[in-house]
Formats: sequence, C-alpha cells, structure tokens
Amino acid sequence: MIHNGIDYPYIDKILLSEEQIEEIVKRLSAQISADYSNGDHRLVLLCILKGSVVFMGDLMKHISIPVEIDFMRVSSYVGGTKSSGNINIILDLHREDLRESDILIVEDIIDSGKTLSYLSRYLKLKGARSVRTCTLLDKPSRREVSFMPDYVGCEIPDEFVVGYGLDYAERYRALPYVGILKPEVYTKK
Ligand code: IMP
Ligand code: MG
Repeated sequence: MIHNGIDYPYIDKILLSEEQIEEIVKRLSAQISADYSNGDHRLVLLCILKGSVVFMGDLMKHISIPVEIDFMRVSSYVGGTKSSGNINIILDLHREDLRESDILIVEDIIDSGKTLSYLSRYLKLKGARSVRTCTLLDKPSRREVSFMPDYVGCEIPDEFVVGYGLDYAERYRALPYVGILKPEVYTKK
C-alpha cells in the first residue's frame, strides 16, 4: 500500500489516518479536560508501555488542565497476535501520593479486556483515589471479561492492527497511522 508517497508492503489498509487520529485525540482530550476540571483533582495520566506511548504523547498536549504523567509496563502477549491472559507487571507504579491521585490509565487498545480490568483493580487496591481508563481503540467483539472503558477513541472490528504505537513482534510502532497488518506477515514461517 502506498501512503503519502511511501510504500508499506506489509499493510493491507489504513484503518485510522493521521487526520482521523488527530480528531479523536482532540475529542477525548476535551472530554477529559472538562470531566476533571473542578479543581480538586490531581490528574495522573498513566501510560501503559510500550503501545500507548504515541497516543499518550499526543493526548497530553491537548489536555488543558494540569496533569502529571507516569508509566507502567505490563505484558500479556506471549508474542504473536494472541494474548496469554496472564498479566505480568514489568514496571510498577511507585507514587507516594497515590491516595490523592486520580489515575487515568491510557491504553492503546482493548482486546480481551484482561489487561485493563486487572490494572484498574490493581490500582484501586493499591489505594488510588480514583481510577478511570482511556483507550484509543477498542475491539468489543473480542471481550473475554466484562470491561467498560471510560473514554474510547474508536471501536474497531476484529483485525490485528499496527502503527501509532501498536506493534507486531515489536515492529511497526512508528507508523503515523493505524493500519491493518497483512495476515501473511504473522502466518508465514
Ligand atoms: P487485552 O488484555 O486482551 O485487552 O490486551 C490488550 C493488549 O493487547 C494491548 O495493550 C496490546 O498490547 C495488545 N493488542 C491487542 N490487540 C492488538 C492489535 O490488534 N495490535 C497490536 N496489539 C494488540
Ligand atoms: Mg499494550
């Protein structure tokens, strides 16, 4: 596929263009700014590494109220395109002020729902003042545990997507758009 004069032979088609992503980011950041604007919030955007790093960077620039940022890294994928369902915390959150913190988890995509449902419970148990979730993409048809995110950029069909932070085997994160990966990329040996 050719996009802006560049050949992306491993991409089937673009699901969200740069312009569509920008619109989503502006809509979500306006909602978040309004919802947390009453002044007694210590809003912490919690980026879930690595997939959310690009989305988080754009989102935080458009939020008009004071925010702090923090990071966690978890893994649920055993490699490939299937989630293992076991969530491993690779980088934990360490904050002295968690009881005064309103945590907004920023995630790239929800698939089975296991990562965000686990992380929300984990952060509440750790004592966060509040925990909400914001995801760029949601594949509701793939849910294995019931989970409703608070902010959703876009619902997408059951396709494996890459770009704008999302990877397949650590590749393709740097694409400026979200694209559907050609299945032969992950089925060929
Ligand atoms: P869940 O725990 O099954 O909801 O998995 C969420 C995680 O799976 C996301 O943070 C992504 O890292 C990964 N994931 C799910 N679907 C995709 C996809 O289509 N492309 C890339 N990563 C994905
Ligand atoms: Mg992820």
